Amino acid sequence: MPAELVVGAQWGDEGKAKIIDYLSKNTDIIVRYQGGANAGHTVVVDGKKYVFHLVPSGVIYPNTICVIGNGVVLDPFFFLQECDALNSQGFDVFNKILISDACHILLPFHQKIDSLIEMSSAPNQKIGTTKRGIGICYADKMMRTGLRAGDLLDKQLLEEKLKGIVERKNEILVKLYNTDTIDYKELYERLHNFAERVGHLITNTSYYLNQELKKGKHVLLEGAQGTCLDIDFGTYPYVTSSNSTTGGSISGTGISYYYLKRVYGISKAYATRVGEGPFPTELFGEEGEKIRSLGQEYGATTGRPRRCGWFDVEVIRHASRVNGLTDLVLTKIDILSNLDFIPVGVGYELNGKKLDYFPSQNLEKVKVIYEELEGWKENICGINKFEDLPLNCQKFIQFLESKVEVPISVISTGPDRIHTIVRNVDVE
Ligand code: GDP
Ligand code: IMO
Ligand code: MG
Repeated sequence: MPAELVVGAQWGDEGKAKIIDYLSKNTDIIVRYQGGANAGHTVVVDGKKYVFHLVPSGVIYPNTICVIGNGVVLDPFFFLQECDALNSQGFDVFNKILISDACHILLPFHQKIDSLIEMSSAPNQKIGTTKRGIGICYADKMMRTGLRAGDLLDKQLLEEKLKGIVERKNEILVKLYNTDTIDYKELYERLHNFAERVGHLITNTSYYLNQELKKGKHVLLEGAQGTCLDIDFGTYPYVTSSNSTTGGSISGTGISYYYLKRVYGISKAYATRVGEGPFPTELFGEEGEKIRSLGQEYGATTGRPRRCGWFDVEVIRHASRVNGLTDLVLTKIDILSNLDFIPVGVGYELNGKKLDYFPSQNLEKVKVIYEELEGWKENICGINKFEDLPLNCQKFIQFLESKVEVPISVISTGPDRIHTIVRNVDVE
């Protein structure tokens, strides 16, 4: 069996976890490959809601193994809290999770520095991060000064590395930020306790995953964030600090690219973004508020209101190119019921010239070209056959499909696992 990938096609929060959960019933192993606790992944089963940040979204299936890949930045204390909460709901997560020995450990000072930078930046220089320390931890990874999960397994190595790291960070905290220092002893004890509790889960997951794929196991790679938040292909600098796109799923797991057979891009039937940065089809004032309130668009991690706008074809075409999408999944189409007309952004102009692609620069200056489609009045929440959708809704989906040139093989008509339409694809 091959590996499959679920990746965000917009600015995150597309409903990836709902689709990961849906696809997980046919999956043996689910792997997070980048990001960290900045993700907020919501799954609804039989009306009960679960929100995951670090633990892969398939954990509630009894027989799936969940892997934290080498590309993730793991906050060990947050991870324990999340696992303990799931264990108290009866999910026995410590028997089904593996952690890459090469994934980087996110420490309290990463979070502290992230918050300090955000708070002290001029309004036009803020990124609007989740303040979970993600960018600072990845910076340490790239500087080759980070601590990795495997380091926690050797007491002496941990002592030596952590001492050096805390010394350097304390200097930065005092001299640059004029703030409190980190207590080495306390941090060492906490990390040591973490290793005592979950050290047995830390292993070479690249080797494990390739071995399992070779045996014919089915692996699902769980993307966090989305294409337009990718450090290379997103709206830099208003992005996260990892490759959330397909390339990151290979480097963040260490599986051979050869196994990757299917890439699902997830997109809302409209668009949202949290944090700062350009958003060409954004709606302001009452119009934006209407979609926000209909879609309940508030962040699953920070609770911040999400900025809302119309579906942007150029964004999805960009996502299709950089990820090699084989399928597009359209979520939250139920939120668009009751509109007389639904605008769709079908292209961009810059300085009076039509652009052929999603630009790396000057996105805030593009003019969006819109087409309007007729809406439908019926409540479509929970419909699970394409033919049962109102005709205008079917036409809307077919219109998007023709513009993005990727088959829309799954359509989500509500938050629950069962609120799903599958078209022409064998995922049942
Ligand atoms: P993710 O980060 O991509 O996994 O998405 P989030 O969980 O942050 O946000 C998606 C939100 O939309 C969650 O509250 C989901 O329960 C909800 N959701 C997903 N698909 C649908 C859908 O088709 N219709 C509706 N109404 N809600 C959905
Ligand atoms: P999921 O996986 C939406 C955004 C933040 C900010 C930028 C950088 O739930 O789709 P960071 O804390 O990563 O340094 O913040 O990225 N962001 C997300 N937006 N969904 C997410 O994750 C996000 N993770 C980060 O709001 O604009
Ligand atoms: Mg989310």
